Amino acid sequence: MTGSYVAAIDQGTTSSRCIVFDRHGAVAGVDRREHRQIFPKPGWVEHDAAEIWAKVRAVVAGALAAAGVRADELSALGITNQRETAVLWDRATGKPVHNAVVWQDTRTDALCRELGGTDGPDRFRATTGLPLASYFTGPKVTWLLEHVPGLRRRAEQGEIAFGTVDSWLIWNLTGGPDGGVHVTDVTNAARTLLMDLETLQWDPAALRAMDIPEAILPEIRSSAEVYGTAVGPLAGVPVAAALGDQQAAVFGQTCYRPGEAKNTYGTGSFLLLNTGGRPVPSKHGLLTTVGYRLGGEPPVYCLEGSIAVTGALVQWFRDQLGLIRSAAEIEPLAASVPDNGGAYVVPAFSGLYAPYWRSDARGVIAGLTGYVTKAHLARAVLEATSWQTREVVDAMYQDSAVRLTSLKVDGGMTANGLLMQHQADVLDVPVIRPVVAETTCLGAAYAAGLATGVWRDLDELRGQWRRDAEWTPRMGAAERAAGYGRWRRAVERSFGWVE
Ligand code: G3P
Repeated sequence: MTGSYVAAIDQGTTSSRCIVFDRHGAVAGVDRREHRQIFPKPGWVEHDAAEIWAKVRAVVAGALAAAGVRADELSALGITNQRETAVLWDRATGKPVHNAVVWQDTRTDALCRELGGTDGPDRFRATTGLPLASYFTGPKVTWLLEHVPGLRRRAEQGEIAFGTVDSWLIWNLTGGPDGGVHVTDVTNAARTLLMDLETLQWDPAALRAMDIPEAILPEIRSSAEVYGTAVGPLAGVPVAAALGDQQAAVFGQTCYRPGEAKNTYGTGSFLLLNTGGRPVPSKHGLLTTVGYRLGGEPPVYCLEGSIAVTGALVQWFRDQLGLIRSAAEIEPLAASVPDNGGAYVVPAFSGLYAPYWRSDARGVIAGLTGYVTKAHLARAVLEATSWQTREVVDAMYQDSAVRLTSLKVDGGMTANGLLMQHQADVLDVPVIRPVVAETTCLGAAYAAGLATGVWRDLDELRGQWRRDAEWTPRMGAAERAAGYGRWRRAVERSFGWVE
């Protein structure tokens, strides 16, 4: 151990951040930078992986400076990242061969239907825990191999590496073309449609079906172990954890027991329930995924409800409709009216994810009358997040015997008290926010610190969790049921828009 701090990089959909934590899990320094969102066509979303790597280097330097900590005072570095986004790069030059295809991108929609064939969207569900949907990585790789000239031949010859963003960062951090380690962790691999949930290895049948050569694949490792040692400004620091951002939040929220759940409110929202040592298949539109795996210990599985658009709807309300100037303005605007005036906004911008998985859905505003003002719409925009979460929780109740007694929450939208109160109201359970709202980074730091002996065990980490705020349900049962009924009718109106 070189020092008493642990750093975590959170490479997200819209920005990269680095946080330096002290050994009590308190934030010592933070830096954050946005990167470009590239929209070549409607429904397509790309990132420049080289730009992301540059931004990551910058935020690492910024966070160390903000904390007043030198690299040699770091015991470990953990990585957490936007999941499912596909990066392909040249092993010799270290240059990406194409923009990264982002998780939100819908270009593989037709390919996914084709891959389903007569089995339909559940063709790979038993092995991978996932439905065939454009959200996941494997078909994005197939698309790139088919559309970038000469790429398939080079891939087959071993010149090309594939990874989700964790792999891309670890490879670069540990030397890139000069000896970079090509690995991914089980939580990221679990999102590719290519990993067998039982063996935690690449599934040969899925690789064959998607025509993906083994030569491009990273090695699948646990979420907490030393993959390699950083070079460059972080020289000597062990790179000791990787988790997809939602699984990192599970870890940072210390949901270590079966039945414990968290919801993270970011661009979208992702509710994960710890189901213990066995994967629980879903029959109600949830994903079965790996929560984390610590070194050689058995994996811990989760059921996940993925909602594509929550915080992004507030951004749309601000940037595309121009009804507010900053995201923070939505709360006072929504609070200026007592209810939604009968309006419901279903943000099916790229179809609907859990529990519907309907790529044919598009957004609707239902219940409009001349009475509705922008304040009612602001309320409906916020309520879209809590109603979508309610649908995911209902699916979890149908898939498992678990009943939530409370829900741990984190992410940017948890600053919005009106939304958190509505969330508690429509779920009918208390909603609890921890002191360190940066649970994604915290989870990656915790995993890296466990792998390097900064922290002893899960009990020690659990002991560091502190409650900041709690919202208790206030809504009556009749009002809840009526509102939910209207929400579901609005959702049905979004189906079938794309033919
Ligand atoms: O599955 C997508 C998720 O990992 C994206 O999270 O926070 O970068 O929007 P975020």
